Amino acid sequence: MCERSLILVNLKVSNFLTQESATLFLYFSIAKIRKKYDMQGFFTKKSYLCKKNSNMKAITIDQQYVEKFVPQVDLNALQPALQQAQQDLIHKTGKGNDFLGWVTLPDEIDDVFLADIEATAKRLREKAKLFVVIGIGGSYLGARAVIETLQNQFAALDSERKDPFVIYAGHQLSEDYMHELLAILDKTDYAMTVISKSGTTTEPAVAFRILKNHIEKKYGKEKAKSRIVAITDKERGALKTLATKEGYKTYIVPDDVGGRYSVLTPVGLLPIAVAGFDIRRLVKGAQDMKAIVTTETTISENPAMHYAALRNALYQQGKKVEIMVNYDPRLYYFTEWWKQLYGESEGKEGKGIFTAGVNNTSDLHSMGQYIQEGERILFETVLSVENNREIIEIPSDFENLDGMNFLAGKRLGYVNSMAQLGTILAHIDGGVASIKISVPEISAYTIGQLIYFYEFACGLSGYLLGVNPFDQPGVEAYKRNMFKLLGK
Ligand code: PA5
Repeated sequence: MCERSLILVNLKVSNFLTQESATLFLYFSIAKIRKKYDMQGFFTKKSYLCKKNSNMKAITIDQQYVEKFVPQVDLNALQPALQQAQQDLIHKTGKGNDFLGWVTLPDEIDDVFLADIEATAKRLREKAKLFVVIGIGGSYLGARAVIETLQNQFAALDSERKDPFVIYAGHQLSEDYMHELLAILDKTDYAMTVISKSGTTTEPAVAFRILKNHIEKKYGKEKAKSRIVAITDKERGALKTLATKEGYKTYIVPDDVGGRYSVLTPVGLLPIAVAGFDIRRLVKGAQDMKAIVTTETTISENPAMHYAALRNALYQQGKKVEIMVNYDPRLYYFTEWWKQLYGESEGKEGKGIFTAGVNNTSDLHSMGQYIQEGERILFETVLSVENNREIIEIPSDFENLDGMNFLAGKRLGYVNSMAQLGTILAHIDGGVASIKISVPEISAYTIGQLIYFYEFACGLSGYLLGVNPFDQPGVEAYKRNMFKLLGK
């Protein structure tokens, strides 16, 4: 057993390995896999550090569970195209180059802008117990992904909570959902933001019409205005006209930033700040990741290139479905954001990887069967969190009627990490490649890193595929039919 390998893997799970037995178990598991695959370089694990900022806690891409499926030579073959794609993103020379504002966005966010968002958030936080975010697709998923990843998962039930609770509307057309929302807003102080870049999207426009009516009845037209913020295009669209006429506080979605790349604009930053999270750390994480992925030019030094290369190499082998896997329910909406980012960016011209998500260990008892033994058209990307915030030890039980005493004294997080490792190993046996992306912990800073990492890798992937990753012409098809049916 290579010592280096053991150290690397030990580092990865060090927070859980409080017992010698755990270390031994891991040692033998890994020795077994290594023997089974007898592979050179099987333990390739790459931590990407920001050279300009050695304090940056890095994301790590672990290639050991995918090497059996993607030989290094296949990755190397993709490097020239990836370097071209990187240059096209930076110099705006590729498809959809009028929507590349997100590439430089993190570095353009200045203190004045952040202070303004924070001041608006503070004003709304003082007025409201609930904050309604009205938007759909890229105009809501980024904010929800960050908020639900960072917030206490039982915040809604905590009557002593200080921060407003963020809720959502305009992301579907359910009548009962709207009825139940209005019922809760009847008896709770609230404020809201309506977000639509085009300003013409039906779902948020209809929701805003209903909620505007409600908030004006509840507080009076004048007072209601101070509870509404509009986030839209700088001059086009019905929402802009309405916001100007009513005199709402308004933020602009930059022309050259599309919805699904807009989380670091007011679209994401305002709701995140209202929820009480540190938008400066979020932006800093994105800036630090940008410094890596826009400057490093090789797969071995650039995590976005590495990820894009792995998933495209697998796609070329006929693996048409990528499943993002998490082992922490906090990541449910982050997975939803990722699904939209990649699905809407790549799925066009009869091409593209279909993006799906599973939430483990829950889904090991549902979709786990398909992943293990169904059609061999998929691979997985595990988004792994190395350190939990809290420690829970499993208690011993004198009678041991449930037979669980073998876990007594172990951390719940350790059991979860062994479920993760066991599942990845089973998937390799089942022919499912696993790309493991780890973050040291969940924080505004690491989420900021992940956002930029996934965005940049998505741009690279789209260019490798030969599509425009920044448009969404297919979204119009349902609208045409719906409008016809509704008599527009
Ligand atoms: O990523 C995208 O561009 C889409 O998901 C849009 O964000 C979504 O369709 C909502 O559009 P709009 O912000 O114009 O209402």
